[in-house]
Amino acid sequence: MASGEATLRVSKIRNGTVIDHITRGHALIVLKILGITGMEGNIVTVAMNVPSQRLGVKDIVKIEGRELKPEEVDRIALVAPRATINIIRNYEVAEKMRVRLPKVIKGIVKCINPACISNSNEPVQPVLYLISEEPLRLKCHYCGVIMEKEEALSNLIQ
Ligand code: CTP
Ligand code: ZN
Repeated sequence: MASGEATLRVSKIRNGTVIDHITRGHALIVLKILGITGMEGNIVTVAMNVPSQRLGVKDIVKIEGRELKPEEVDRIALVAPRATINIIRNYEVAEKMRVRLPKVIKGIVKCINPACISNSNEPVQPVLYLISEEPLRLKCHYCGVIMEKEEALSNLIQ
């Protein structure tokens, strides 16, 4: 179906990625998780707290000239579990993906516990288990500490 937005606030893009249905207010955190600073030079459009039929209110991020890969987009499920990723080619939606948060999280978030072996000098990769998606709750494989959303977001691995 064509876009259900009553008024189109940001224009369609020719090539790139549209991250739609982001949890309200979380667009900037999505960019941070993706490691997008603006210094890359791509045109990036951010719309926050716009009306949505499905979510009531949502955020949208459009990144021109770059196609995000599934392993990149899954990282944003931490904060936007309902996001849809649209790959745009020549103005058409060529692919539409849902984000999914793996049950075992590696390489996205570090353990919050400074005494944890995954934070020592040992070559131990952080491994966290998804206990709950909304509200986000993660458990460290090594020390068992439970992390809430804010703690997870302040411990992202870039
Ligand atoms: N979009 C865009 N540029 C294009 C095509 C689409 O920016 N050339 C955006 C649309 O504005 C929308 C998203 O990509 O935010 C998905 O487009 P589309 O699938 O056409 O919209 P919907 O059917 O509303 O999507 P959904 O079913 O996922 O809600
Ligand atoms: Zn730990």
